[in-house]
Amino acid sequence: MNITVIAGAPEAAETPLLVVAVPKLGKALPASLAGLDAHTGGLLAPLFTAGEFTGARDEFVLVHVAGGPARKVALVGMGRAEDVGRTSVRRAAAVGARKARSLGTGQLAFAVPVEFRGAVGPADLGQVAVEGAEQGAWTFDELKSSDPEERKPPVGAFAIVASSDEEPEVRRGVDIGTAIAAGHVLARRLQFLPPNQCTPAYLADTAVALGKTYGFAVTVLDKAAIEAEGMGALLAVNQGSATEPRFIVLEYKGAGNAAPVALVGKGITFDTGGISIKPAQAMEEMKYDMSGAAAVLGAMEVVGRLRPTLNVVGVIPSTDNMPGGRAVRPSDVVKAHSGKTVEIVNTDAEGRLVLADALSYVKRFKPAVVLDAATLTGGVILALGHTVSAVMGNDEALIEEVRRAGERAGERVWPLPMYDEYRELNKSDIADVKNSGGRPAQSITAGWFLREFVDGYAWAHLDVAGTAYTGNDSPPLAKGPAGVPARLFAEFLLTRAG
Ligand code: BES
Ligand code: MN
Ligand code: ZN
Repeated sequence: MNITVIAGAPEAAETPLLVVAVPKLGKALPASLAGLDAHTGGLLAPLFTAGEFTGARDEFVLVHVAGGPARKVALVGMGRAEDVGRTSVRRAAAVGARKARSLGTGQLAFAVPVEFRGAVGPADLGQVAVEGAEQGAWTFDELKSSDPEERKPPVGAFAIVASSDEEPEVRRGVDIGTAIAAGHVLARRLQFLPPNQCTPAYLADTAVALGKTYGFAVTVLDKAAIEAEGMGALLAVNQGSATEPRFIVLEYKGAGNAAPVALVGKGITFDTGGISIKPAQAMEEMKYDMSGAAAVLGAMEVVGRLRPTLNVVGVIPSTDNMPGGRAVRPSDVVKAHSGKTVEIVNTDAEGRLVLADALSYVKRFKPAVVLDAATLTGGVILALGHTVSAVMGNDEALIEEVRRAGERAGERVWPLPMYDEYRELNKSDIADVKNSGGRPAQSITAGWFLREFVDGYAWAHLDVAGTAYTGNDSPPLAKGPAGVPARLFAEFLLTRAG
């Protein structure tokens, strides 16, 4: 997408579609829209007085204008004026771009009059407008063979309208937003690809390609190397599969020998449940079980583009989880990379197994902090729905830092408690630990299982099973991959780097 910043009043923008974001303000045309209203020949004012446009979140009205420069003018609601922030502006841009996509205009201009912006400064405006535009414009038709001519044109150009004095700051934000959006788009593409294409080897190839483009050191362990490393938990999950696992490590150096931030992502390219097999209903959604891995690769794309001053290690344990004659059985005991023994009571609790080996592997980097992201438990959907991700960890300050990164990114998280009582539920009669504590508090016992393999660093775990993808279209986001938590990871890293 070609991104530009144009200086001047919104109504002066030469565009087939001008989208203006407006909060809830009452039943009169806001004074700051007087010029725009005049440009439309007075078509906007009656929308306000008739209550046909109130500024409610995601509300959208469009009028056609006789003559230019803006040939269509749309208003998008941002919701309550006192709540306007980065998230509402990003969302309004996404709604506008998604409409531009369905209208087939090919391009749009976007404005948030300064009176409507709350505390959002010009750099934030530039950043989140681009993020929203790329989010709303997203489509995936690589695997459709129908004539591209018959399809709606992609949104190829996006212009942000701002005043000339704020233009340099808006442009600075655009550069950040462009990088974050690229990482988000990469994550969503990987999520959406089917599991016969997005295999562990494909994720590894993607990492290697990122390494070539941005100069990261990339290490890919194949099955033999994973065996040599003693990653018995990852190997147990892979046992039933005809497809080889991969253990992927990307290293970005932006701050000499400083202790790195490690990002770990669950890379289960398809989760059938294994011998503890899942029901057929909605099993196809389990292609999204590599969303944590997609977010790690997305964050590395952002890091490669912006080169922040810190060190980052991305780690992805990847396999599919299949039943079969060689598959691991409920009651098998395996030895994890850390040396701890694990009784596998449920082969569908596979994410925590592959993450366990990654969490002990990262110790060698002496990380300052480790964040992991995983579509780990269906239970988190019962607890928090599809609105926020769960966060758990061993360090309150880190959990708060993650929470703030989520607020900035528009990918919110909420903490779940890690009281010692929950740890007891993972006790095994035969091994050091078992891989499922049963149904009660399953997101927390899953967190505690991971924590058994965390040693010597501050750690936070994100359970994104409810947020990584969506089953419904909404005005700002197409149904399917949501790319969560790629942008949270990016904000976390950029804020840390200062
Ligand atoms: N990948 C699933 C979790 C999941 C469920 C993600 C729904 C997205 C939507 C995970 O591997 C899993 O199967 N978890 C089990 C844990 C149980 C066996 C303790 C679950 O959620 O039932
Ligand atoms: Mn599972
Ligand atoms: Zn899974």
